[in-house]
Amino acid sequence: MANLPTPLVPLPRLGHALGAGRLWAKMDAETGFALGGNKVRKLEYVLAPPMVDGITCLLTAGGPQSNHCRVTAAFAARHGLRCVLVTNGGPEGDPTGNALLQRLFGAELVVVENRSERAARMESVTQELLAAGETPLVVPIGASTPLGCLGYASAAIELCEQIDALDDGCTETIVFSASSSGGTLAGLILGLALLERTDVHLFGVSADAPADELDVVCRRLAQDAAVNLLETTIDPEIVPFKSIDDQVGDGYGVPTPESREATELFGRQAGIVLDPTYTSKAAAALIAHLRGHGIHDHQRCVFLHTGGAPGLLA
Ligand SMILES: Cc1ncc(COP(=O)(O)O)c(C=O)c1O
Repeated sequence: MANLPTPLVPLPRLGHALGAGRLWAKMDAETGFALGGNKVRKLEYVLAPPMVDGITCLLTAGGPQSNHCRVTAAFAARHGLRCVLVTNGGPEGDPTGNALLQRLFGAELVVVENRSERAARMESVTQELLAAGETPLVVPIGASTPLGCLGYASAAIELCEQIDALDDGCTETIVFSASSSGGTLAGLILGLALLERTDVHLFGVSADAPADELDVVCRRLAQDAAVNLLETTIDPEIVPFKSIDDQVGDGYGVPTPESREATELFGRQAGIVLDPTYTSKAAAALIAHLRGHGIHDHQRCVFLHTGGAPGLLA
């Protein structure tokens, strides 16, 4: 599914504007399939041929602007599967952004009032699908399963190959990425722990959950994938990793003055599109870090762009 490797691009103008010369973007917005983003890497494993063999229908859940639902629906369309999405909120008026694309890909929507109702509704829809003779595959929210993590473990390996080839004299890399259901950061932790890389410092910028919760989820998921899929153990603590929740503002999907500024800056200084829910908040954290601490001579900074651009057009 994914167009790999995604490019690691220098952002000299943006770096200059932020007083940090060595700024790069790892463009996972360009994984390609159905407008790309981080979900493509995870679903490449979760929806790999052996997983969907004999399946007639995909069932998953998310918010009305879920990128994960968009990519799942596109996969179903490509492979001739039925797709049912349990979404909280919407549709009001004409659908836009990801909600528009989910419908374009032919997904059927089951709307619940709020996020807390999604899991129970997924269960009841599963029973309804089974009763109707379907063989459904339930894709957990965000595809943040141990299997989905493998997509980001291999992304970590890919990123390390790219930074090692830079030959810029830097010995440490600071990576900022958006984080929500935890699979992206868990996969990165797994990949870096397997490589025993202690020179890559990860900051997972929360879109919603408290940082301490997200820390636990990510480390646990990384270990779970190592033990149950790779039959090894890792020491997730060797990877410098920290979740940050000071960009959440008024909540999930609600822009803040800092995330708006980040969207403007990335647009004007780098021609990069950020989304209001995830990447603009991760970029705001990166900007705050660079303005507050700068970067040392031995460091470079990488913004992992996890996609989501349709959300800006919603
Ligand atoms: C564009 C974008 N960035 C980041 C994330 C967060 O990734 P994860 O759920 O793996 O933590 C998501 C997922 O919800 C997303 O859609």
